[in-house]
Amino acid sequence: KPLYILNGPNLNLLGQREPEIYGHQTLADIEAACEATANAAGHSLVFKQSNIEGEIVDHIQEAGREGAAIIINPAAYTHTSVAIHDALKAVDLPVIEIHLSQPAKRESFRQISYVGMAATGTISGFGANSYQLGLQAAINLLDT
Ligand code: DQA
Repeated sequence: KPLYILNGPNLNLLGQREPEIYGHQTLADIEAACEATANAAGHSLVFKQSNIEGEIVDHIQEAGREGAAIIINPAAYTHTSVAIHDALKAVDLPVIEIHLSQPAKRESFRQISYVGMAATGTISGFGANSYQLGLQAAINLLDT
């Protein structure tokens, strides 16, 4: 079964975007590391980034048709998107919500996660390593 890693708005700017919060690795660096981990575990990886909410909904529906596991960093849509919440509820898949930063330590507007309410579990605060930890959790769920 494939692994889908979905990335929300502004994550295409990783490496240059507020590096003191989000680190110096680019999204391409993260993708390469995730590809290696997924392949070593015998799973194919689909890795996508979009700044457009509806495109992320489309990718979730596609993952649903594939019977995939989803690892999602919804970025700002975490805190706003009922559409992404509903899409995750509509597909019967393992869903790992991930964040580079630890939203619980940040502004009040980051304290609600509509995605977390539809996720199997959440990993946040480990920088780029949140992707590896999320991938590991998803692989474990697919393989057991
Ligand atoms: C983020 C946290 C969100 O609050 C923020 O809007 C982002 C990135 C993270 O990975 O830490 O864009 O999802």
